[in-house]
This record gives sequence, structure tokens and C-alpha cells, in this order.
Amino acid sequence: MTTRTLASLSTGVLLALATSAGAQTDVGDAEVTFTRDVAPIFQRSCQSCHRVGSIAPMSLLTYEKSRPWARSIRQKVAQRDMPPWYIERNIGIQKFLDDPSLSEQEIATIVAWVDGGTRRGNPADMPPPREFAEFDDWQMGEPDLVVALPEPIVVPAEAPDWWLNIETEPLALTEDRYIKAVESRPSLPGADKVVHHAVTYMVSPDDERGFLNEYAVGKNADVFPEGTGRLIKAGSRVRYNRHMHAIGEETPADVLVGPKFYPKGYTPEHVVFAAHAGDSYDTIDIPAGEDNARVDGYYFLREPAQVVSFQPHLHNRGKRQCVEAIYPSGMVETLSCAQHNFAWMLNYTYEEDVQPLLPAGTNLHLISWYDNSEANRYNPDPNNWIGFGNRSNDEMSHTWMNIFYISEEEFDRRLEERRAKHGTNQ
Ligand code: HEC
Repeated sequence: MTTRTLASLSTGVLLALATSAGAQTDVGDAEVTFTRDVAPIFQRSCQSCHRVGSIAPMSLLTYEKSRPWARSIRQKVAQRDMPPWYIERNIGIQKFLDDPSLSEQEIATIVAWVDGGTRRGNPADMPPPREFAEFDDWQMGEPDLVVALPEPIVVPAEAPDWWLNIETEPLALTEDRYIKAVESRPSLPGADKVVHHAVTYMVSPDDERGFLNEYAVGKNADVFPEGTGRLIKAGSRVRYNRHMHAIGEETPADVLVGPKFYPKGYTPEHVVFAAHAGDSYDTIDIPAGEDNARVDGYYFLREPAQVVSFQPHLHNRGKRQCVEAIYPSGMVETLSCAQHNFAWMLNYTYEEDVQPLLPAGTNLHLISWYDNSEANRYNPDPNNWIGFGNRSNDEMSHTWMNIFYISEEEFDRRLEERRAKHGTNQ
């Protein structure tokens, strides 16, 4: 069984790699212009954030607005700082939902545009403007319900980091409903600066607890594969566990949680749970000034499982995280590695046909790296030893993984389906 898993999974990985390796980087001698070549890239990968009223500092909707930022744009895209998406491209699974990252070809186009003197080009080449719904908007589209506290919480101008647990009123939900996607986002201007994270749980009328979602700076939506979901019971309340952080001015802040439901009465075949996986506590031991400290953690799968998504969680000194599967046979395969950027806690959702299918007895091995040197721009103090702690200035090492368990029979069936789809790599 194990060998077949490997075969099936590697085939997916190989296919994905082959596609990206095949990208051309040669943009030729033709004049690269904004209207014809650059604007379509900005529309797809930048404008969701770079427009008035959205979260980024400047608009990239037009030539006039973009032109003054050309140098900075060149640098940010060439270094893959922008768009925010930090999956390493030379290792692990490469197919993700809603991946805004640029191909080598697109980066080369932007670089050539800047180096060639930022030509405007023919206005007739400009693609029609991309349509956006109002800001305030949910990246996944409108939710079916919006959860909020009755009043925002006011973070004082000066205060130590602050953790609190707080509950909403019972939700206006009269029936049990399954969620197919859920997103959390800060509600008011400045809220994204004072809320470091907000983990939400559902508390049912009979006091049963279930994980709902996690918001952290810069995070996107959790989307579950068709036929899988998470249950909210009628009359549940939502409990927030929040980490707030003062920023020198009094800031009212709330975090909205928006679920999208399956139709009434629909029960998905599998329930997705969010594993808080591979935690390390006492073993986080980062010397002052060290630029490559490493921590290892594990998460054991007792049943066959399918992994939906991967969301590294590290703090200021975090540099990189990898997750690998140690199969019961002892063979090891890297699933994903991501660079860490403290400003962006991204949830990477695998495309369904490459979501890792792992046999019972697989051990997920999480490896985190930290940069405690002064080269790390998020490092508040390279002179300190760092261990585990809740404050952003302490460290953590875990990953959130959306996972659902399946039976042995279903595992075999899913494997067969994948093999039929990808072919075998014999
Ligand atoms: C998910 C939202 C998002 C997307 C998508 C995005 N950006 Fe950004 N961008 C930001 C935010 C927020 C900042 C400011 C904070 C930071 O630098 O992380 C920023 C900063 C920048 C800066 C630095 C501005 C400065 O102060 O010098 C540049 C340049 C930039 N983005 C270009 C791009 C380009 C080009 C794309 C598309 C290829 C893009 N961004 C996609 C959100 C985004």
C-alpha cells in the first residue's frame, strides 16, 4: 500500500514540477509595454490588494499610478516578496487553489518593462478593467453569515500584548449546517495592525467545542474540498481566542468570521478538522544572533488521511518551514516548504487531485528554521536567546493543517482514482 501511495503522490508532484520547469523566461527583444504586457499581470496578481481602499499602500490599477513604483515593483517581484506567496518552487507539491504567484515568464516581463524604461504602450492594448466588488470584501466571496462581537474591542494606545477569550451571542442559525468555506478578517481600519491572531471555536448549546477558523495577519480563506466540511450546530456561539497588540494609538478592532454553507439538509461525507500539528515547546532553543536555528516536531496519523491545506505558524524570527511525510515503511517525502514572512500568515490549499493521501501510521514531520540575526528585519532584538512563548517576540513552531480521515477502503479507492488520472510513474 505504501509503495502505491508514493507512486501516486510523486506522480502528482512530478507533473506539477514539469509544468513549472517548462516555463520560458525569454521575453525576447519585443518592446514590453504596460498596457499590453504588464497590466494583465497586475490585474490577476496584484490589484486585489493594490487599489484604493484595499490593504496595500498604493494602487496598481493604471499606468500613472504604477509608474512611480517601478523600481520597488521590480525588486519585490524579482525577489518573490510580492505577491505574498512563499511556497518554495523547487520542492514538494506545486498545485494550489487561488495561487496568485508569478511565473518566471511574468517576472521576466515586469523586469524587462522596468529595465526598458517603463513604456506605456498603446492605450488600445489596455485590457478592460478588472471588476471588483466593494472593498470590505471577502476574498472568497460573500459569506452566508457574518459573525461579530456586539461591540469591537478597544486596544489602548500603550499596553503589553494582550490575550483574551470572548464569546459572541448565539448565532442566528436555527438548524445544524455544514460549512464549505470560512474566512476571517479584521473589521475596522487599523484592526489588521492590532490583531495578531484570532482563533475561533464553535460552542454548541450543549457546550460542545469545535475549531472553526484561525485568523492571523494577512491570512486568506479556508476552502474545503467538495463533499467535506465542518459542522456548526444550531444556536452555537463563537468563542474567540485573540492576541492583541498595542500600536501607540487607541484602536477599536473586531474580527469578522464568515462561513459559507452547504445547502440546508446536506451532510458531507467527511468532516474536516484543523490539526494544530507538530508543536514544539521546550525544544525551541534559538541562540542570540543565530541565523539558522532549527526545530523539529511530529504529528502522527492513526488513520488513513487526506491533507487539504498547510499553514505554517512561526513568529518574528521565523524563516522557513517544511513538512514531510514519514511513511510507515520509513520512506520520507517532502510535501511542502514555505519561506516565512511574519507579515503574511498564508494558508496554502492544495488542489484536490494533489492533496496528499497518507496511509495510517504516517508521521508528519515538521521542520522550522529561525533567523535571530540582525539581518532579519522583523527581529526586534538579536541579542536575546529565544524560546517558546505566546508573545510575537517569543517563538512558536507548529502548522495548521486541514485534514480528513478516510477508511482503508476509501483510501485504496482514492489512490486508484489518482493513478488513473495521473498515470503511473513505473
Ligand atoms: C494579498 C495582497 C497583496 C497582493 C496580491 C500584492 N500585494 Fe504588494 N503589498 C501588499 C501590502 C499589504 C504591502 C505593504 C506591506 C508589505 O510590504 O508587506 C505591499 C507592498 C508592496 C510593495 C512595496 C511598496 C513600498 O512601500 O515600497 C510593492 C512594490 C508591491 N507591493 C508590489 C506588488 C505587485 C507588483 C504585486 C503583484 C505582482 C503585488 N504587490 C501583490 C499587498 C499585496
